[in-house]
Amino acid sequence: MKCQEIRDSFLGFFEERGHRIMPSAPLVTDDPTTLFTVAGMQPYIAAFRGEERPPAPRVASNQKCARMGDLERVGRSATHHTFFEMLGNFSFGDYFKQGAIEFAWEYVVDVLGIPPERLWITVYTDDDESEEIWNKQIGVPLERIVRLGRGENWWPEERWEGPCGPCTEIHLDNGPETGCQAANCGPACDCDRFVELWNLVFQMYTEAPDGTLTELPSPGVDTGMGFERLAMILQNKNFSTETDEMWQIIQRTSSVRSRSPGRTGEAISTTDATLRPTWLFG
Ligand code: ALA
Repeated sequence: MKCQEIRDSFLGFFEERGHRIMPSAPLVTDDPTTLFTVAGMQPYIAAFRGEERPPAPRVASNQKCARMGDLERVGRSATHHTFFEMLGNFSFGDYFKQGAIEFAWEYVVDVLGIPPERLWITVYTDDDESEEIWNKQIGVPLERIVRLGRGENWWPEERWEGPCGPCTEIHLDNGPETGCQAANCGPACDCDRFVELWNLVFQMYTEAPDGTLTELPSPGVDTGMGFERLAMILQNKNFSTETDEMWQIIQRTSSVRSRSPGRTGEAISTTDATLRPTWLFG
């Protein structure tokens, strides 16, 4: 699938399931606490808190985002960017854990055709309900469901006064022959074996600076799937910089700079996982 087909497919899937499709909010926010929009949920903070009416009980979007937290990893990992697009579906007091998990699985497995045996799931430490949905209703074996704590399966990672809550993530396993090859490698490992594909956040609280959690007026769903990662997987590339749209930009940039992309001046082989997109470093 080409990049634009992926965007259309995602938004079309959720539109057919009763979601209002929202345009991306501007990248530069009018929120005094953040310079850039960092997540698809950011335009809906007041709606999650019950301070504003949401545009509809269910919405979906493809949001332009910028994050500086991963700056050090850009160009060194296969999948990190500072500017990226986030595909997301949101529920404001409408469906919750079961609906979010069912939609995500149906889209990834039935629509995109990603083999279910390559998918691993993470859930928050004490989230028995999500584990049970994944295992008993969706059929993911317990061996591929991992419980992780605050650093991994709570969003956002850093404490803030906006909406927050436990999350469950879908990860793609590139296989034990890839990545660090450590015996205990798993979805939380920083190597490139597991690619975090989709984060389903169950927005339930706001959190005071001292850590006190206050329940939101009604629980909501906030999901985010990295568009560039998804495109990399569907286009069978080793780096998210090699998708049809991104690669065109790189080729054009290289031609303007009068040099070829790649380590030694040849085009990068998209099948050689040892090559890194060194065009970033000159
Ligand atoms: N808000 C969640 C994230 O950005 C979905 O990962």
